[in-house]
Amino acid sequence: MDHYALDEFIADCHSVSAANADPADCVIAVAPLMERLLEGDRSFLRPAHFRSDRDHYARNAIYISPDEQLSLFALVWLPGQWTPVHDHGSWGVVGVLHGLLEERSLMAVDGAITADHGIRLKRGGVLLLKEKSISSFVPNPDHIHMTGVPQQRAMAVTLHLYGRNMNSFHIYDVEKGTRILVDVPHQKS
Ligand SMILES: [Fe+2]
Repeated sequence: MDHYALDEFIADCHSVSAANADPADCVIAVAPLMERLLEGDRSFLRPAHFRSDRDHYARNAIYISPDEQLSLFALVWLPGQWTPVHDHGSWGVVGVLHGLLEERSLMAVDGAITADHGIRLKRGGVLLLKEKSISSFVPNPDHIHMTGVPQQRAMAVTLHLYGRNMNSFHIYDVEKGTRILVDVPHQKS
């Protein structure tokens, strides 16, 4: 089985980020790297990366670059745990380590969002991402969705590589048409 070391993966992602100005090109180049990481021996994973939290989905940091241009997290989803509706402010690539992650997309009816109010979001499609599936997103206009694990399913663990230090995002109130910027906490590994 392929041994794709975490250091090698991170170095490859930094190279992609430096070589591509367009986020869409970054995710095209990083998706196969995430695939290789998922297909490999996964020996970089530590027990700390699998910590869950009974109150909400858990974000376990694996790597945050000193220049804050990349970050990698393991997210642990117990049954019934979901994100709020959110964006990312960055490109990102998601890979499923274990279980099934559901993604429910929303679309901004009026195009790019330029204010924190008067936002019209329309519910869109759904993705069921199984083990080794890979998903991605780009900003401007931001990809808006909620992700999680329905109550009747088993827990899931997913890897999230972002083109910045992912420590905040907008959460949206679909009914009120508003959004606020919130800090997103994580556990250090
Ligand atoms: Fe997300």
